[in-house]
Amino acid sequence: MAGQKKLYIKTYGCQMNVYDSERMTEVMARAGYVGTETPEDADMILLNTCHIREKAAEKVYSELGRFRPLKEARPDLKVGVAGCVAQAEGEEIMRRAGLVDLVVGPQSYHRLPEMEALVREGKKALDTDFPAIDKFDALSERPKAKRGPTAFLTVQEGCDKFCAFCVVPYTRGAEASRPAARILAEARDLVERGVREVTLLGQNVNAYHGAGEDGSDWSLARLIGALAEIDGLVRIRYTTSHPNDMQDDLIAAHGACDKLMPYLHLPVQSGSDRILKRMNRGHDAESYIRLIERIRAARPDILMSGDFIVGFPEETEEDFQATLDLIETVGYGYAYSFKYSPRPGTPAAERDQLDEDVKSERLQRLQALLTRQQRAAQDAMIGREVGVLIEKPGRLPGQMVGKSDHLHAVHVTDPDLRPGDLVQVEIVESGSNSLAGRVIAPAT
Ligand code: 5AD
Ligand code: SF4
Repeated sequence: MAGQKKLYIKTYGCQMNVYDSERMTEVMARAGYVGTETPEDADMILLNTCHIREKAAEKVYSELGRFRPLKEARPDLKVGVAGCVAQAEGEEIMRRAGLVDLVVGPQSYHRLPEMEALVREGKKALDTDFPAIDKFDALSERPKAKRGPTAFLTVQEGCDKFCAFCVVPYTRGAEASRPAARILAEARDLVERGVREVTLLGQNVNAYHGAGEDGSDWSLARLIGALAEIDGLVRIRYTTSHPNDMQDDLIAAHGACDKLMPYLHLPVQSGSDRILKRMNRGHDAESYIRLIERIRAARPDILMSGDFIVGFPEETEEDFQATLDLIETVGYGYAYSFKYSPRPGTPAAERDQLDEDVKSERLQRLQALLTRQQRAAQDAMIGREVGVLIEKPGRLPGQMVGKSDHLHAVHVTDPDLRPGDLVQVEIVESGSNSLAGRVIAPAT
């Protein structure tokens, strides 16, 4: 369309940033923008950044440096930084990176069109406030474009837990839940546009406690129950959860709600009580293990996923061993593991740090164990029948790829399948990163 400007967003980090980038593209439609996949033809470039680990700010500066030639060739090109690095270091970015026109923190995305108007006049725009209004309310006007079968849906944002290693409470702010009615309306809208599976997002998603349609406070389980009533929505997932917010009704929902998928990301970070205490996690290893037993009692085939940090200040070989022991006890289907990285402004960053070599060596041993478990969980799927939601064509002719109920990538060869089909598949093969199966029940 003539006169339309183009917006290129590069997204780093978590799924919430992916969701936020989609919302930013939609809100910028009001300022006359359409999304583009290439920075070369963009009128505005936005980096949606992540601050959770390692040299995040440096990465942003070097990425910005790569856009310098584009900006020199086309001085009209506007460059912005969004996300958690923008929130944490916005003013510094404005000072240090001359080519940046706009800095916007995660709680201010609804203000992007006004900010764009300012930068068009040649001014700079910075907004890293935590306004009291629900930004999603202002972001909720969306064009009715068709969508793929899966979507993220933010239901809760921010965190009040203050784990000693984590920047999230500082960059995303205090915990806030969206009202249930808005979430349900957004989910219905997504379904009308072709979505069949939603992943509910929140930094502490199981702490969700939004205003319900009846005026009472709804838990995440209650919200999931209401979402499950939506015809055409066939799968529900949620991430990321804290062990202390895993309430009885949510555990029960895993046994009672067919649409709630048998996969749970429940980070523990360490298996050592001493380290868990120093991390300010608010739980010990034993209570985490008991919790997983209760979840498995409700849903025996649930696949557990976790996050682990090695090399937290004061972690001894014995502490590390306790983490390996916990992993052996739980048995994970997926896991994400990281070397501890001191984040400016967080309590643990001020403490004595372990040698990088020690961290690397522990990470290697931890990942070897987790990879073995992941592989075993995948191989154990052979011979089983699972639901697969078809997402897109695979690389081979006639091949389609989708995700199983347990979130494994599954390849099937069947020329009649289309994205959005939910099929029953028998798993016949387990490859390095995916499964292969054959359809045993037709598309629904
Ligand atoms: N260093 C290393 N890993 C971290 N995480 C969060 N903060 C840090 C840090 N400072 C990890 C945690 C969290 C995941 C999203 O990132 O494991 O669960
Ligand atoms: Fe960070 Fe999660 Fe801890 Fe909150 S609960 S401080 S988001 S690790």
